Amino acid sequence: MERLTPRVGIGQIAPYRSSRVPPDGRPFIDLSLSHNALGPSTKAIAAYRKAALSLHRYPDYEHTLLRAAIGRRYDIATDHITCSNGSDEMIQLVAEAYAGPGDEVLFHQYGYRGFHKAARMTGATPVVAAERDLAVDIEALADLASERTKIVFLANPNNPTGSYVPAEQVQRLRADLPAHTLLVLDSAYADYVRRDNYDPGFGLVEEHDNVLMVRTFSKLHGLAGLRVGWAYGPPSIIETLDRIRDPYNVGLPAQAAAAAALGDPEHEAATLEHNDAWIAWLSHELRAIGVRVYPSVCNFLLIRVPPDPTMSVAAVCTHLRDRGILVKTLGEYGLADCLRITVGTEEENHALVDALREVLE
Ligand SMILES: Cc1ncc(COP(=O)(O)O)c(C=O)c1O
Repeated sequence: MERLTPRVGIGQIAPYRSSRVPPDGRPFIDLSLSHNALGPSTKAIAAYRKAALSLHRYPDYEHTLLRAAIGRRYDIATDHITCSNGSDEMIQLVAEAYAGPGDEVLFHQYGYRGFHKAARMTGATPVVAAERDLAVDIEALADLASERTKIVFLANPNNPTGSYVPAEQVQRLRADLPAHTLLVLDSAYADYVRRDNYDPGFGLVEEHDNVLMVRTFSKLHGLAGLRVGWAYGPPSIIETLDRIRDPYNVGLPAQAAAAAALGDPEHEAATLEHNDAWIAWLSHELRAIGVRVYPSVCNFLLIRVPPDPTMSVAAVCTHLRDRGILVKTLGEYGLADCLRITVGTEEENHALVDALREVLE
């Protein structure tokens, strides 16, 4: 009798492993996921609480109020927007809609791990372009685009490297891609970037029919626990994604809280101010104790632990864990000697630096 087996490609997806450990009752500092150190906006919390009274109702399958709020905030047309259960779902929906067995899905070496999973889930072949010094090499990506390439995923800025691709290079990449290839700009951390030559992709979406931008409420808006993402693209692509998504993919409290978060510019500004100050402080302090810190335009830092035969990265993590601090290991990205550290609160950042100083100095 033939054995039951999952579809081709599924076996190539590594099970998700978080660097988080199950809490054993002790309080711990979680810098392992790219959370917003300030938490959610109070307006989002109020909207979430109010939505609790309507939990017996299905959510609005058209995400009407949420799309209107996004449209107002970014001055874009609501029929060019759809929403998802976190941007991870959007990445998967795009792959399911446009790629399949025999197709190629192209992305960059240290690109966000969701790209690999999305490609494999559809049975398509993931193709990986080498990066240079932990930054995307646009030429390498363009060189690998072929007749079979259905999607190019570009995380800009990228997680876990924290690096970004200047606007002019993204434009060049798009111009080099065949018309049948969809360029997906994953701009999850766009709001954090303070660089004049960066562009999250609104203009590219408006000018071309093969560009889609994906965004999330998990970072700037601090709603990771609610799972809300969205995409901005040509109506034909948006309509395609709407066909295949679960009609009730974004829960009712999630839609309400996300829409309210967009009406809280003070929370956004406080988040950015906190991030700017503490990413600079962390970079300086970590460099001072001999850690290599890669420049980051996000809310986390990629650090390389100095080579030391007596102190492996695993030992560093164990030391941090013993002090109740969790950081992200990056073996799955082939960056076994690196760690990703998210900007925390003032107290958490000090605790991290003190603990690393103890173990490394
Ligand atoms: C680059 C990038 N894209 C997408 C996501 C998915 O975010 P979410 O599913 O929480 O919206 C993440 C999460 O860390 C990310 O770093």
